[in-house]
Amino acid sequence: MNFLKKALVASAWLTVVFAALFSYVTLAQATELQDEQAELVSVPKEAAREYLQPRSLAAIPEGEFGDKVRLGYKIFVDTQGLTGNQVGNELNCSNCHMNAGQQANASPLWAAYFAYPAYRKKNDKVNTYEERLQGCFTYSMNGIAPAKGSPELVALSAYSYWLGMSGLMDKYQVAGAVPELSDEELVKGGKRADFPVPEAIQKALTVDQRAKLPGKGFPAIDKPKLAYSPQRGKTVYGAHCQSCHGDNGQGLEIAGVYSLPPLWGENSFNWGAGMHRVNTAAYFIYENMPFAKGFQLSNQEAWDVAAYINDHQRPQDPRFKGDVQGLKDRYHKHQGYYGEQVSATVLGVEKPKGN
Ligand code: HEC
Ligand code: HEC
Repeated sequence: MNFLKKALVASAWLTVVFAALFSYVTLAQATELQDEQAELVSVPKEAAREYLQPRSLAAIPEGEFGDKVRLGYKIFVDTQGLTGNQVGNELNCSNCHMNAGQQANASPLWAAYFAYPAYRKKNDKVNTYEERLQGCFTYSMNGIAPAKGSPELVALSAYSYWLGMSGLMDKYQVAGAVPELSDEELVKGGKRADFPVPEAIQKALTVDQRAKLPGKGFPAIDKPKLAYSPQRGKTVYGAHCQSCHGDNGQGLEIAGVYSLPPLWGENSFNWGAGMHRVNTAAYFIYENMPFAKGFQLSNQEAWDVAAYINDHQRPQDPRFKGDVQGLKDRYHKHQGYYGEQVSATVLGVEKPKGN
């Protein structure tokens, strides 16, 4: 990706070609866009819960089904390895879903899988698991989501299913390999009365209980005592985050690979991603950051630094069609800075956010 950027700067006429390509991409995207992502219902963490423990990845079986599971894992941890424009930033799925999507309370895939298809009252629509995955490509990865039924979405579904089902089987003492599913079954998700589940698990958990496994999502933390403040957050950032994420939130790139992910700017998640909401980022940060040393920040510090990182420019909301205020009114009625005046400048852009 960086190569591309450099080439753009180097040659003026190439820019024209790319501009044409870009408008094509925007067009293609407009037709395939997922509608609004539902904010997950975040509930405070319950004390002393037992979380599902997926089997070790070494236990993924040989053969065609196992290969899909392995491919899903690979895409999840090295999303940058996908070619084309499926990914439009420098992130990997696992940058936010910790421990390769296996960590409880960091939106683990093993819990997500059994929560779809999910009915959405707002638009009277059912979202399948692969549609939810597409949403993360569109917003968190700032890309053009792979098509439904594509090998990428089948693989990510297979990985999620395998983690979840292996964990449930071990917990309810069902021996043997995880039952194989067809691609069509895999991408729908596991919240269905007709979803094939071993009897012991079916007896132990209803479909609804399965959809709310302990450790799902990012747990809510208390509201801050003082209204969150990007100004105070800047100080927290300098003390606890900058050493890894850089003085301009740019992350760390060595030899074309980002070993530390960017938090804002052109290489990070866009304005439609869940992480741009201050509350969602605060929940994530409180538990997971600084990396591998979570729970260090006070509640107030987590909110303030979440406000600070999200009070910066980042790629445009892909639903944007020329009207920041209109989009803000329609999709941004939550805790965020879309369409607000810039207080912290990035990339020298001095205009309202999302413009
Ligand atoms: C920038 C951080 C970030 C990245 C990168 C990211 N996600 Fe997410 N993801 C989130 C957040 C935050 C949520 C919760 C959504 C919300 O509340 O709006 C979420 C939700 C999900 C869910 C639904 C979880 C549930 O319990 O219902 C799935 C599945 C998912 N992401 C998969 C992926 C995949 C696959 C990728 C890579 C292609 C990815 N995510 C990349 C932050 C991220
Ligand atoms: C020791 C290095 C380190 C420190 C310090 C650190 N992070 Fe991170 N951060 C990481 C790594 C590594 C990841 C990606 C985790 C992964 O891929 O497993 C990450 C991921 C993130 C993400 C999600 C991915 C993205 O790019 O948006 C956010 C948000 C974030 N960190 C915020 C913070 C904040 C806020 C602080 C300070 C309170 C902080 N981090 C401190 C290393 C660090």
